[in-house]
Order: sequence, then C-alpha cells, then structure tokens
Amino acid sequence: MKVLAVASEAFPLVKTGGLADVVGALPQALAAHGITTTTMLPGYPAVMEAAAGRVVHTWRDLLGGGTARLLRGEIAGQPLIILDAPAFFMREGGLYGDATGADWPDNWRRFAAFARAAAEIGRGGVKGLSFDLLHAHDWQAGLAPAYLRYAGSPIKSVMTIHNIAFQGRFGADIFGELGLPEDAWAIDGVEYYGGVGFLKAGLEAADAVTTVSPTYAREILRPDFGMGLEGLVAERAARVSGIVNGIDKAIWNPEHDAALPARYSAKTLARRSANKRAVEREFGLAPGDGPIFTVVSRLTWQKGMDVLASCLDELVEMGARLAMLGSGDPGLENDFLAAAARHSGRVGVRIGYDEPLSHLLQGGADAILIPSRFEPCGLTQLYGLAYGCVPIVARTGGLADTIIDANIAAMDAQVATGIQFDGVTRDSLLHAMRRACQLFADRRCWQGIQRCGMKADFSWGKSGAAYAALYRGLIDA
Ligand code: ADP
Ligand code: GLC
Repeated sequence: MKVLAVASEAFPLVKTGGLADVVGALPQALAAHGITTTTMLPGYPAVMEAAAGRVVHTWRDLLGGGTARLLRGEIAGQPLIILDAPAFFMREGGLYGDATGADWPDNWRRFAAFARAAAEIGRGGVKGLSFDLLHAHDWQAGLAPAYLRYAGSPIKSVMTIHNIAFQGRFGADIFGELGLPEDAWAIDGVEYYGGVGFLKAGLEAADAVTTVSPTYAREILRPDFGMGLEGLVAERAARVSGIVNGIDKAIWNPEHDAALPARYSAKTLARRSANKRAVEREFGLAPGDGPIFTVVSRLTWQKGMDVLASCLDELVEMGARLAMLGSGDPGLENDFLAAAARHSGRVGVRIGYDEPLSHLLQGGADAILIPSRFEPCGLTQLYGLAYGCVPIVARTGGLADTIIDANIAAMDAQVATGIQFDGVTRDSLLHAMRRACQLFADRRCWQGIQRCGMKADFSWGKSGAAYAALYRGLIDA
C-alpha cells in the first residue's frame, strides 16, 4: 500500500512541536506493515537546503503564488515530496509567521496551495505518482481531503487532529480564491461559522478522522475541548478514533543518546547522576538533595505555564529546583526569567529551542512537569518515561492515557510510572510537586517508579499497527 502523508512539519527537517516527531517517525512503523509512506512537505528554506530532489511537475501559477514545482527526493531513506513554491515558503522567520511571531497574513493561501497540490497528486494528476490513500495532518493539510472530494476522486483520505485548538479559520472572502466549486460553500463543506475552516473542511471530507489519544478523542466531543468543532466531531463519531503517539527509539534512547554525557539503562540508573551534574552546570543550579524538575515546552496557556509560574516560590521552598527550556508567550518568558533572577541557583531558565539540551534534561533531571490544560497526546511525558525522568502530569488527553499515577494501589502493584493531578490549579500542581518530593526522598521507591516507566512500551509498534489497520479497513471497504 502506498500512502501520501501531507504535513507542514517533519523531524528532522522542520520542527516546531510534536507534529514533526510523529510525521517523522510514523513511516518507519508503517513500513513493518508493508506500507510505503511518502511525506509531502512545503519547501521551506530548511527543507530545500537539506533535501535534494528532481522536478516531477510544474504549475505555472499555483493558487496565485506563481510558479511552483514538485520535487521528489528522499530523506534518511524515506521518500519525500517537496512543494517548491518560493513565493509561499522561501521566507526568513518561522514556518507559520514572521520573526516577531505574527502569523503570515497569507497563511490561508500558502496552505490552500499546499493542500491543493497534495490533492492533485492524490487524485492521480501528477504523472508517475500514484497513491492508495492520503493522510492529512492538522489544519495546514485540512483542505486536501476537501479538494479530493470536490474533484470526485475515489482515493480514500484520513484526517488526523493533533490539536483542535489550531483550526485554520479564515474569512468568507477567501472562498472564491480557493478554486473549489460553489457547492463547497455549505455547512457540510468548507463553510465554518460564516467563514472558511480548513480543519473543519478536512473533518467533513475525510473518510476517517483520528486524533492522537483515546481520551482526547472523547474530550473533543465536549465544548470545553472541542473549541467549536464538538458538534461536527459528535456527528462523525463513528469514524473518529484515538491512536496514541509512539516515540522513535532510534532517537530517544538513553542507552545510545549522544547528547548525554553518561548513557544508561534501567539497570544502570546510578549513571544518571553525571547527567544531573551536567544539568546543574548548564542551568547554574546549586547542588541540593531535592529533585530537579524540568520543563521542555512551548510556554503557553495550553501547557499551564501561567499556573506553574505562580508556583515557583513554593517549589524552591520545598527544596526542589527547576531547569526550564522553552519559548513562547513573551509575558510568560519574562515571568520565568524573573523567577530565575529571584531564585538564582534554584531556578534556571533557558529561553529558546534546543534539541540536544532537551535530551540532556530528560536524561539528567529527576522529573518533568507537564501541567497542560489540554494535551491531545504529548510526547515529552513519553520521552520522560523512556529516560527515567518521572512525568508529573495533568490528567487530560494523552497524559491521562500514558501515565499511571503513583497512588497506593499502583505502588502496591508496582506499576506506577508517574504522578497525575486533576485540574490545572495552583493548589493541585503544588500538591503534585509535594508528592513528588516525598516519593523522591525514598530512593528505592523513586527508582521503582523510574524503572516501571522505562519498561513501559511506547515505541511505535502498537500505534503503527493501529494506523495500518485503519488504512486497510478504508481501502478494503
Ligand atoms: P506540542 O506539540 O503541543 O508542543 P508535544 O509534547 O507533543 O507538544 O511535543 C513537543 C516536542 O517539542 C517534543 O519533541 C519536545 O521535546 C519538543 N520541544 C518543545 N519545546 C522545546 C524546546 N524549547 N527545545 C527543544 N525541544 C522542544
Ligand atoms: C500537538 C499536540 C500534542 C501532540 C502533538 C503530536 O502539538 O499539542 O499533544 O503530542 O501534536 O501529535
């Protein structure tokens, strides 16, 4: 079976978050099931530099953006298709916005063009390329299933929601420029609250909809999580499923991780202490007996970072330290930097994006804090499990599905892998951090939790099989 995966990021070429990790890793998992995945990416500067390809198609004018070419190549042995549309993607700044963080005003046109090109390939319009199924990821690819549907193409499509908070909503005025037929302007088409909804269009048109954990699949049926799309998700409930993300063990494995001063396994946990010293050095932390908590995250409201920022004085009082790596809302960045200045030697903050440092933190800190208000899946708790960096998580979405709270029963049965708390409030987070400090003080008990986490299997095996079964079900239907 041949699948075209359409996404706006993929590790190791371009990454702003977990979407890239998933799009980068899923193809290998699917290969084990006889499925060849070709990943289609926009030709951002980083993609054009890293991946060469030969031209297989040219549009003289793709959706008003001038000349666009399709390049076919590969990266790390995986087939790749790049949409080289310089007017849309050859820009300095971020993938979705300029250096100040403001969205590109023509994002609708950029990703409509991307989706249109993908659908053109999917429906067999590009010589030499043929696929059995198109898999669209997030709103940036959301129009692809819609273009297929309105072109009357029989190829099946899957729409995966990585985060329903990002929907690609634009004004009604763009509709005329999308090149869709008039009847696409409909409640069961691309129209969404009087405008155009890219994710909404994908959810309507795709043959199956997935999201990245079973709990999130249920949560988005509710208005507080569905963010306006809950009605549509409910309507399509029979075709919506939740498949939890896996992790790429070739990249995230403490036994072979080049970013760690000391490599280790569940049997050699004592070696982690060299990594902890390295974390202390990197973050200017004074030595101490208490745990080092870490955060590796976008600093946003979704991630509950405002609540964490309000807990830092108490975190220090309880004898813990914090090593934080992240970037995001300028106000939150300043709050954390101010806390680092206030608690020099106890709170260390690095604003920015640093892949190797994120590995060091997982391999050297004692616990990772993830107080998300919602979390479709979350990957940092899975990396934490694999690295013996005990996850302290809010009970929501994929965090609820992947972590076993260290309650009395779980401790008794020796199956606890982390700490969960309900409701993202100061009190609940402080309570969870205090529990962590108590458990940490009992070395044997803490190591038991670390080892259980390291044994948990969140490699892509099971989830790859679930996607393969979903694809087969659609194609055989
Ligand atoms: P989301 O995609 O919502 O941001 P995930 O937990 O699914 O959350 O994925 C986040 C990914 O981005 C992980 O691979 C994490 O390690 C990485 N990451 C987040 N912030 C940083 C950072 N500042 N530096 C390096 N990696 C980061
Ligand atoms: C989104 C979600 C995150 C998920 C990732 C990959 O960024 O916020 O929870 O892990 O996509 O699916």
